[in-house]
Amino acid sequence: MSGAKFSKNILCIGAGYVGGPTMAVIAAKCPQYKVTVVDINAARINAWNSDNLPIYEPGLLDVVKQARGRNLFFSTDVDAAIKEAQIIFVSVNTPTKTFGEGAGKAADLQYWELTARNIVKVAAENKIIIEKSTLPVKTAEAMGRILNANEKGIKFEVLSNPEFLAEGTAISDLEKPDRVLIGSQLTPEGIKARNEVVEIYANWVPKENILTSNIWSSELSKLVANAFLAQRISSINSISALCEKTDANVSEVSRAIGMDTRIGNKFLSSSVGFGGSCFQKDILNLVYICQSYGLTEVADYWERVVLMNEYQKRRFVQNMLKVMFNTVAGKKIALFGFAFKADTGDTRESPAIDVAKQLIEEHAKVVITDPQALNNARIDLADYADKIEFAADPYEAAKGAHAIAVMTEWKEYKTLDYKRIFSSMERPAFIFDGRNILNHEELFNMGFNVFPLGQPNHKHF
Ligand code: NAD
Ligand code: UGA
Repeated sequence: MSGAKFSKNILCIGAGYVGGPTMAVIAAKCPQYKVTVVDINAARINAWNSDNLPIYEPGLLDVVKQARGRNLFFSTDVDAAIKEAQIIFVSVNTPTKTFGEGAGKAADLQYWELTARNIVKVAAENKIIIEKSTLPVKTAEAMGRILNANEKGIKFEVLSNPEFLAEGTAISDLEKPDRVLIGSQLTPEGIKARNEVVEIYANWVPKENILTSNIWSSELSKLVANAFLAQRISSINSISALCEKTDANVSEVSRAIGMDTRIGNKFLSSSVGFGGSCFQKDILNLVYICQSYGLTEVADYWERVVLMNEYQKRRFVQNMLKVMFNTVAGKKIALFGFAFKADTGDTRESPAIDVAKQLIEEHAKVVITDPQALNNARIDLADYADKIEFAADPYEAAKGAHAIAVMTEWKEYKTLDYKRIFSSMERPAFIFDGRNILNHEELFNMGFNVFPLGQPNHKHF
């Protein structure tokens, strides 16, 4: 694995949802660089080296296969890879802290700091260290201090290059990003390092889409981008509740406001709630940062986005209960989808987790089906193993059920044979469409009682 035939050795520490796809695309686009991805999780690395990748992402396997073994390598030998690299992306997890000061809000930076300390220990020459993980604004300051407090005379330049990919569309997001953001200190060394990273992306991203900024703006922009995206969902979800009271239709409202070019039409789909590993974590982190600067009003403002999301998930189950004659005890309920969105097997913070748990508390018999996320669902609900069933086949999941609740907007759920499903269910049969993806009129005509989100319901009683 000598790097001599390559013009640069790039390393990414952390082979997760971000590290793996991001580096696979860099390697595929830039055969002149050697790209290595390391992780302490050997099972994950083994999976990256197989055809059974550790994450499900459309198009990912093709990109990996294009470069793997040529200039893309997955390894657990973290130290050897650090020694060899000139540029190191760090993409380890930065979850919400669960203990001590800031528990439940602040980012847990222990994995990041451990990585930084290991880099200092192992490195023998100057390196560029890039924050790829999402981090609190000002982290680079602390990282710079840890890295540069070495007695070997090695200089580390810390840059911020947050990742904006969304799961399910990671490959197209990486191949054609709206923008790449690279922040640095505005010193000559900082700008020189930043230009080196610009050069990597310029292999396939148009220069005008590569933004450079000061490092603090870059760190903060990532948190703010996620906060704004999540805010749009909470805004439209809040309106869905009002629509249900007023016979307005939230999809019509979304369309009407989205055609105003100042508002724009994206991220206005009402849902059972946003999920995913980052929206809630990053907003809570933003809230914590604001609180720690004494900006209470700003913190409270952003916290409402998360609280509205909690309300939406709770409201969904309360509505099911009310409609199903105030009890679901002993009733079979099929959850269609468990992933936090379509085209991924990821279930982190999926609204389906909360919905399943609330239904179990109501003593419902929950059956979960999902085309990609059943393994993760089993792990998420391990504590309730005796109370839940899993069925790969949606027809099986719905058999004998009183209700179906659509949790994930998988395309395949739109084209199921609902007549067949209806005939296998208990009566009255209910559908709660937590994603508004089904044809409600048609389902009603088949005999279902249909309860969309933020839209008039269709019921036979
Ligand atoms: P992940 O949990 O899937 O992957 C992180 C990986 O880092 C894990 O495989 C873990 O084993 C590894 N790791 C932890 N400590 C390590 C160490 N000391 N040495 C080597 N490996 C180590 O996380 P992810 O979803 O890829 O997210 C990574 C970061 O990117 C987070 O900060 C997240 O907020 C951010 N982000 C995620 C997404 C996304 O879609 N998932 C998008 C943009 C940004
Ligand atoms: C999100 C951002 O879109 C990415 O830019 C960012 O890089 C990433 O978080 C991150 O930092 O991790 P992701 O969580 O993968 O990406 O997926 P999204 O498409 O943003 O969806 C998030 C949640 O919002 C999903 O549960 C989705 O179903 C929900 N959503 C999305 C809605 O309920 N309504 C919408 O209109 C859009």
